[in-house]
Amino acid sequence: MNFIFLGPPGAGKGTQARLVQEKYGLIQLSTGDMLRAAVSAGSELGQKAQKIIDAGKLVPDAIMTGMLAERIAEADCENGFILDGFPRTEAQAEALDKILGAQGKQLDAVIEIKVDDQALVRRITGRFTCSKCGAGYHDEFLRPAQPGICDTCGGTEFARRTDDNEKTVVERLTAYHVQTEPLLPYYRRTGKLHTVDGMAEIGEVTRQIMAVVDSSLERV
Ligand code: AP5
Ligand code: MG
Repeated sequence: MNFIFLGPPGAGKGTQARLVQEKYGLIQLSTGDMLRAAVSAGSELGQKAQKIIDAGKLVPDAIMTGMLAERIAEADCENGFILDGFPRTEAQAEALDKILGAQGKQLDAVIEIKVDDQALVRRITGRFTCSKCGAGYHDEFLRPAQPGICDTCGGTEFARRTDDNEKTVVERLTAYHVQTEPLLPYYRRTGKLHTVDGMAEIGEVTRQIMAVVDSSLERV
């Protein structure tokens, strides 16, 4: 069972991938998280990526497809995965078809999380995560039950992403509309595209996504 969660920055790809993965034994593969790990490690790739991420642009296709091909081949992906943030260009989508074909894998569904542009800036500028376990929160929409304490691990340190500011968000949205949105007709042609209402509350979006996953399960 392999899925793509597709949507603009702040649509809820990461939030939903974390909620859905446990129930089905899937692995969330976030290319943004992989790049941020490279930035934290201070590697050559990380230094290069940091500048691109903070400018709200896309990291070159060759780097991203190489990174993803290696990750998908790892043993923990055998049961299935959720691609969160990949593919983002037509070249990446075509490369993904080849990578999956070479590894004898296939896509079950591409789930578009559709959200209005106006809602995204508010979602992104209010986002923060637990520094210890990575659980995601929001100043308005998803606060920890006890202020300053992570619901998941009890951690007390939180972080905000360096690209989560209004200026960079505008660039990220442009990149989405120009480079990533053309993937919608690409996947519609395969008959695998499903669209869920990302403007709904988090729990309702999860319910809609699980309905798509369940219907894919029935076809297996
Ligand atoms: P990446 O980390 O993938 O960022 P993104 O695509 O911009 O998406 P986000 O992580 O910002 O949003 P999300 O959809 O995960 O939303 P979330 O669930 O957190 O990529 C970062 C950068 O890395 C890119 O700009 C690029 O430079 C580079 N990169 C990565 N992959 C690449 C690739 N394949 N090719 C080239 N470059 C690449 O939710 C957001 C907030 O809203 C949270 O606070 C959450 O609590 C809240 N929220 C979620 N759902 C709801 C809801 N339904 N109602 C109310 N609030 C909600
Ligand atoms: Mg994310």
